[in-house]
Parts: sequence; C-alpha cells; structure tokens
Amino acid sequence: MARVLIVTNRKGGTGKTTTAVNIAAELAASGDRVLLVDLDTQGHCAIGLGIQVSKGDPTFHDLFASGQPLLPALRESRWENLHLIPADPLFEHGSGSRDEYLLRRALADEGLHDRYDTIVLDTPPSLDILLLNALHAADRVLVPFLPHHLAGEGVRQLARVLFRVASSRADKNLRVMGFLPIMCDPRIGQHRTVMSSVAHQFGSSRMLGGIRNDIRVAESFAVGQPVRYYAPKSRAAEDYYAVAQAIRERWQ
Ligand SMILES: Nc1ncnc2c1ncn2[C@@H]1O[C@H](COP(=O)(O)OP(=O)(O)OP(=O)(O)O)[C@@H](O)[C@H]1O
Ligand SMILES: [Mg+2]
Repeated sequence: MARVLIVTNRKGGTGKTTTAVNIAAELAASGDRVLLVDLDTQGHCAIGLGIQVSKGDPTFHDLFASGQPLLPALRESRWENLHLIPADPLFEHGSGSRDEYLLRRALADEGLHDRYDTIVLDTPPSLDILLLNALHAADRVLVPFLPHHLAGEGVRQLARVLFRVASSRADKNLRVMGFLPIMCDPRIGQHRTVMSSVAHQFGSSRMLGGIRNDIRVAESFAVGQPVRYYAPKSRAAEDYYAVAQAIRERWQ
C-alpha cells in the first residue's frame, strides 16, 4: 500500500510545487517507487521534471472532466522510479465532478497503491473540490510556508479544512507530517517570529528543518531537473535531502 503525501497550503507561491517535485525526486533517489500527481492546472510539475505535455495528452484532470482513468496519463521521467501524472492546463478549476472521493477511489481501483511506495500530490492554492479529493486520498500533509507576515493566516485556513476532513475519515489516518519553512533565514527577525508562532500554534515537533533561499531552485526548475541533479552541492539540494530523510523517519 503506497503512502500518500499531500503538499498543500491555502496561500499561493509558498514553494508547494518546488517541494513536491524535489521531495518526490529525493524519495525516488533513495529507492522508493514514486508517483507525483499534479492537481494544479498551472501544470508546473511537468515543467519541473522536464516532461513535455502536449494538447490532447491524457491528464489527471480527465478524471474530473470526464471520468477517465488515471493510468493512461502516467508518464515516466528521466529518473528511475520517478513518474508523473500531469495536469491539464485547460481544465477549469471548479468544473467537472463534485465527488470528493474520486481520487481516493481511482488510486485504489487502478492499482496505483501497489505500483508505488509513495504518491506525492501537488495541490493548487485553493480550497476547492480538488483539494478535498487530495485530502481524502492522503495519509500525511506537508505544509510549505513562507515565513512572512500573512503565513499564519494561510496555514490556519488550511488547518480548518484539514481538521474537518481528518475527523470525517473512517480510517483516521490523515495527519500533519510537518510544516516546512521555505526561503527562511533565522538571522532575520521576522522569519524567527513567524516560525516560532507557527511552532507555538501547531507544536514544535511538527516543524521541519526548512529550505534556504537558493537561486539554484529556480534555475533547476527552468531546466526541468530536480535540484539534486542540477546542483547537487547547493544549499537547496542539501536541505531537500535532509527534509526527505526526516519525512522517511516520521513515516516509519
Ligand atoms: N528555496 C527557494 N529559494 C529560492 N526560490 C524558491 C525557493 N523555493 C521556491 N522558490 C521560488 O518561489 C516561487 C514559488 O514557488 P512554487 O511555484 O514552488 O510555489 P507554489 O506554492 O507551488 O505556487 P502556487 O501556489 O502558484 O502553486 C518559484 O519561483 C520558485 O522558484
Ligand atoms: Mg504550485
């Protein structure tokens, strides 16, 4: 049975996609069979893995638009054990099926839990049916956040939905894996304040190490490679490696 990790935050631009791509790559490099699923119609996961998605190619969103299976949309990446189900940039958020359990059922019915050790879900920054589907399908929640003034509000809005879905789940297996500060610098007073307020509110044991600000992140994305391959000695590669280790340990 695959473990399913959702990477999410109500706020936009908090490093969700960067984190989903790089954590997926780290876990695959350490031997997991990993499937990354892109729920966000921006379609950035395919770009981050250097996968070309052409008009008419099957996508994740065909499941919602017309009840198509996920399997035909499965794509291999250049890296062993790292596969992607890409998004459809033409799908209109809010259209299609209203079924909150569509993704959960598709993963189970199509045998994806047996094919993979870990499934990583990258989500759009909206509280919509796609996010609810991802929460119903997931076991653990990873919340990347920027240590800025409004970070707490995005996390609180997410926490309300999370709590609602978690308590409605019969298996009671939806838990927060951790909060991950992105582009954080402990020398900056405001970053320290925001990080300690999130830690205070949600528990310091739930804080993960953090990813430092690193231009290599944007560069690696632009050339379609996880940062561990593009710049193996960079700060970001080091940080994502450490966070992936922490995730593996927490998931034991
Ligand atoms: N550690 C980092 N150092 C420098 N830049 C970063 C870092 N992490 C992410 N970025 C940059 O921040 C921007 C937002 O990142 P990303 O697209 O991953 O966020 P997102 O939460 O997925 O956004 P959206 O809500 O639009 O889906 C990107 O330009 C990315 O390259
Ligand atoms: Mg994104």
